[in-house]
Formats: sequence, structure tokens, C-alpha cells
Amino acid sequence: MSVRQLIIAALFAVIGAVSAQAADLAARIGAPLEVAGVAVRRPGRARAVAVDPGLITTDAMALVSRDDVDIVVEVIGGIEPARSLLLTALRARKAVVTANKALLAEDGMTLHSAARSAGADLYYEASVAGAIPLLRPLRESLAGDAVHRVLGIVNGTTNYILDQMDTSGAGFADALEEAQALGYAEADPTADVEGFDAAAKAAILAQLAFHTPVSAADVHREGITWVTPGDIASARALGHVVKLLAICERGNGGVSVRVHPAMIPRSHPLAGVREAYNAVFVEAESAGRLMFYGAGAGGVPTASAVLGDIVAVARNRLAGTRGPDATTYADLPALPMGQARTRYHIALDVADKPGVLARVAEAFARHDVSIQAVRQEGRGDDAQLVIVTHTAPDAALASCVTDLDTMDVVRAVASVMRVEGESDE
Ligand SMILES: NC(=O)c1ccc[n+]([C@@H]2O[C@H](COP(=O)([O-])OP(=O)(O)OC[C@H]3O[C@@H](n4cnc5c(N)ncnc54)[C@H](OP(=O)(O)O)[C@@H]3O)[C@@H](O)[C@H]2O)c1
Repeated sequence: MSVRQLIIAALFAVIGAVSAQAADLAARIGAPLEVAGVAVRRPGRARAVAVDPGLITTDAMALVSRDDVDIVVEVIGGIEPARSLLLTALRARKAVVTANKALLAEDGMTLHSAARSAGADLYYEASVAGAIPLLRPLRESLAGDAVHRVLGIVNGTTNYILDQMDTSGAGFADALEEAQALGYAEADPTADVEGFDAAAKAAILAQLAFHTPVSAADVHREGITWVTPGDIASARALGHVVKLLAICERGNGGVSVRVHPAMIPRSHPLAGVREAYNAVFVEAESAGRLMFYGAGAGGVPTASAVLGDIVAVARNRLAGTRGPDATTYADLPALPMGQARTRYHIALDVADKPGVLARVAEAFARHDVSIQAVRQEGRGDDAQLVIVTHTAPDAALASCVTDLDTMDVVRAVASVMRVEGESDE
């Protein structure tokens, strides 16, 4: 008996590994894997991995509809035609392995429901944090625990840019240009630098962590294009570093899922995640604090996760069973950003004269925001007040900043950034 595997669009590193490790994979699965076909968009294109030309086609739907195929592997990306192809495969009871974070975050419930109805597997380990085993630990290893919080660096491009800004003092534009030159950023970097990619991953993580349906539309998203060298320097002065974080929290009767730049203490495990690496920090009731770290992208590392899923679904297939579902029984509402509880770091350009601090402190009191620390830097016209708050609802912090912006003793609100990674509640 063999498992006929269909690669419907090539992460060619997966095909290379299937043939290079054929004997080992067959032994691990209990039957050989056979590549039944490979769909691509441009068949004439030179590939890093040699594939029998007879297997290549541009008609993905015809491949997916074949009766002699057990597993469909989708690494096309995007919403269509990927969604139609995967729904066709699942409805025909084929197992699906996908790396498609955008589709899972936009319409994951439709795919899960089709998989459940057909009794088919839907695995997607590579969709979040590339090579890092993360979704299966959340779905299976932590199934007996209660996850409270997930804090992740899940986009390598933005981590590389912010790391460069921190270590070399570069501005955003220069750091982006360097990331592009090194192949860490796309020619059009919007999906990464505006946080869309991280938001899709945050939705997938939140759904698995909290057993609740979460889509990309539920995620509050801010990118890193507004982060300045001044923000980075402010973080440094506080003993912090700026990271683009995906934050998933359970509390207040719902889930809060957000992606934005934030300062975290340099002592936090995520602060040491450099260059284009990814890491996800999980806080669970019994397990405590867990950290998952590794390569978040790249053809070969991502192929490891895809292949791991292929082996898992092939084993299930042979055993006549399917893996565990992503349960959504908790069905918690997604809370608006205003209800997220966080801390702010605020730098204000102020006049250095008596009474200014009292007026500023009054503004915080009006919004019921408690101040944790105040520091004055510079003198005269260069005076800057740096304030770090205690935890408060984001809406209260935001309206306090709006208030500060209109005050005559405040010349400018120079920098506002959320502070994460240590709770004071
Ligand atoms: N690359 C990574 O590091 C990485 C990591 C994690 C997850 N992912 C996910 O993997 C997916 C693909 O990303 P990628 O960066 O590898 O994209 P990519 O380089 O653009 O590759 C997409 C592949 O899909 C093929 N394709 C596109 N449209 C097709 C269609 N209509 N029919 C058949 N084949 C089609 C392309 O064929 P041609 O080669 O002929 O154009 C290409 O081989 C995305 O969902 C992404 O989020 C990628």
C-alpha cells in the first residue's frame, strides 16, 4: 500500500525532501509516499529541484479532483484559487496540508467545517512561524492545560528591520532597504511592514490557544512604518527593545488579539530574538511559561513543517483515522482594542517650568490612568518628560494621549508606544 501525495503547488523543497528521504519517510509512515502530480503557474520556469516533467501541470483543479490521490498539499498562498481547491479536496475526503495563513485567517472556519463533515484531516503547521513546531503543541500537547496568553514575534522581516534599527541606529527606510537587499523583505513589503502577515498568524494562534473562532478581521493591527529612531532610543533608555508583537490574551469574558510594535524589557526571552528569527512565548495555567524559537520562513525550514504534517496525515490515513480537530467550543467574543489592557510609554516635549508636571499628572488622573514612572530629560526648550504608565484599558490611554496633545504646556507628543512583557496586575 502506498500513500499517493499530491503537491498542488510547489514548495519545491518539499518535493526534494520527499525523494531524498524516501526510505526513511516510508519507514516512519509505514508505506511509501508517492508524488502524484505538481501544479504550478509557470511550467517552463527553472526549478531548484528536478521534477519529472510528466508530473507537472497548470490545472490544479484537475489534480485535486483525481480519485487516486490521498493527500493534497497546498503552498500556492492567497485566497483563490486555494480555497476552492482545498474545499474540493476536503469534500472528496482527501487529507489537506497547507501553509496558507491568509486563507486560514480569513476563512478557516469554512475549511475546518468541510474537514469535519468529510472526516478529513486539515493540517497547517507551516502557516505560523515556518519551521517552529507550534500549532501541534498548542492543539495537542497543551490540550489538557489552559492557555492565558500568547506573545509572539511571528514576522521575520519586521524583526530584522527593528533589530537593525536597534543595533545600528538606522531609520526605518534604510533598514527596510537592507532587508530587501538581503532577501528578508519582498519588493512590495506591505504585508509584512503593515502587520497583515503577523495579524493572520495571530488569528490562527488565538483560535488554537483559546478554542474559539478568530479571524483576521478580529485582530487589531498596526505595522512598524511609524517607528522612529527616537522610539528605539526611548526604549533603550528604559532598558527595553522594540518588537512587532502578536498578542493573544484571554480575559474580561473574551479574547483580545492584536499586532503592534511594543517595548519589551531586554530581560524578556523575546527581546533576545534577533535578525529574522521568530519566537512564540506561551503562558499556560499549569505548564507556566513556554518559549518556541526558530526559523520563521525560508523554503527548506518551511518544508520541514510541511513534511511533518504530510507524515502525520499519511499515518492517520493508513490507520483509518484522522487527527484532532481545532475545537472552537469556547466561542468567546473578540474584544475591541479599547478594552485591551496594556501599558504606555509616552515622551512629551514640554516647557521646562514650574507646574508642568502637575498639569500633565492631572491629565492622567482625569482618564484614570496611573503613572508608574516619570523621568525628565534635557532642560529649557529641549525638556522632555518620559512617562511610563501602569496597566490600563487601551481606550483610556489613547484618550489621555489625545488630551495631552491639546495642552498648552505640551509642545508635542514625541513618542507613544505600548509596553508589554511584564504585567503589574
Ligand atoms: N516561503 C516561505 O518561507 C513560507 C513560510 C511559511 C508559509 N508560507 C506560505 O506558503 C505559501 C506560498 O508562499 P511562497 O512564498 O512559497 O509563494 P511563491 O514563492 O509565490 O510560490 C507559490 C507557488 O504556487 C504556484 N502557484 C501560484 N498560483 C498557482 C495556481 N493558480 N495554480 C498552481 N500553482 C500556482 C507558483 O507556481 P510558479 O512557481 O510556476 O509561479 C509557486 O510555485 C503561502 O501561503 C505562504 O504564506 C511560505
